[in-house]
Amino acid sequence: RTYKIASIPGDGIGIEITEQAIKVLRTIEVLFNSFTFDIDTLDWSSKRYLEQGEYIPADGWQRLRKSDAILFGAVGSPAVPDDISLWNLILPLRKKVIHSGLLYQTPLTANQLTQYINLRPIRILPGLSAPLKNCADGDLDWIFVRENSEGEYSGQGGTTHDDTPNTIANEVAVFTSVGIERTMRFAFEVARGRPRKKLTMVTKSNAQRYGMVLWDKIFYEIAKEYPDVETDKMLVDAMTVRMVLKPKTLDTIVTTNLHGDILSDLAAALAGSIGVAASSSLDPTRQNPSLFEPIHGSAPDIAGQGIANPIGTFWSTAEMLRWLGEDAAADLLMTAIQTVTASGIKTRDLGGTNDLIEVTEAVIVELEKS
Ligand code: NAI
Ligand code: MG
Repeated sequence: RTYKIASIPGDGIGIEITEQAIKVLRTIEVLFNSFTFDIDTLDWSSKRYLEQGEYIPADGWQRLRKSDAILFGAVGSPAVPDDISLWNLILPLRKKVIHSGLLYQTPLTANQLTQYINLRPIRILPGLSAPLKNCADGDLDWIFVRENSEGEYSGQGGTTHDDTPNTIANEVAVFTSVGIERTMRFAFEVARGRPRKKLTMVTKSNAQRYGMVLWDKIFYEIAKEYPDVETDKMLVDAMTVRMVLKPKTLDTIVTTNLHGDILSDLAAALAGSIGVAASSSLDPTRQNPSLFEPIHGSAPDIAGQGIANPIGTFWSTAEMLRWLGEDAAADLLMTAIQTVTASGIKTRDLGGTNDLIEVTEAVIVELEKS
């Protein structure tokens, strides 16, 4: 069969790494005779925004919704304020544009996808040195289930008394029981499917009294349906300490949009580099395509130099293959990635000396050996 992949390289190193991921997909397509990729490359970027005033063209949503999956690089340019680039490209891709009070009554329109789960696996890949004591290959086997559509990233709020000494800015975090419940259920299923069957929920329900307390309540309710899953609850500040001091006590973690964003970057650093970590924005209903991207941004400080680490993008590509049901291809790619890291071929962020193309070629050589 043919999978339609929408590729959005975006900005900065997003362009360089996505190009390498496509080489990897083309290699896999030849190795497996059973499927092919029809790749639609979309130039939705800050460059396009500066030239044409928009990131996503009017017919963009139709094109995306025809695809089976979206491969995303990164967005962000020194020439465009970050809140403009995020809110005009990656955030509307992940979720519905919402209006307070109407969230779940609003039917999907042509310009909406709903990727309400963000999944971020973390593991120290073979051969990588990570900053924590007593943590090496295969350790830190964590998976973050981050709520991807609500909370502080709901886009609700505003300012009053602008440009006066008394400006007030409200950033309203919106949480709904529907949004929390579907995230919890997904997280319990993930935890149940892993050997340790252990789920840690992270909130800040001591200081934040409404949304976070609702999270706690729904967590304990759903936990009753999963007696085989061991559960515990952490406050986000204490969680950062536990990740550093007792990392092996964690397995599956479920958390809010903002907390998950921050904790998963810390987790990636603890696993060696932000350049190796993968992220999937999933629509578990499968009504619309899901999106796969590295967790890092466009890294303008190293863009155009050919030294970006492509491993996070390759890992995301493997996650995409798995979501499409091509488990054998996903496994093959993960094995190739790990053989390459174990062999010492790595980019500078991992303390290596290899460049982007050398790492990509090493992965392709490993794939072709199979
Ligand atoms: P960043 O992740 O782009 O970079 C942080 C640091 O990590 C930089 O020193 C960078 O060189 C390094 N780094 C990141 N990815 C790397 C890789 N693959 N290989 C080697 N080194 C790597 O985060 P930063 O600097 O905060 O943001 C830069 C831009 O990216 C901003 O415009 C930001 O808004 C955007 N951004 C976009 C995201 C997305 O598209 N999903 C996510 C995070 C940031
Ligand atoms: Mg982030």
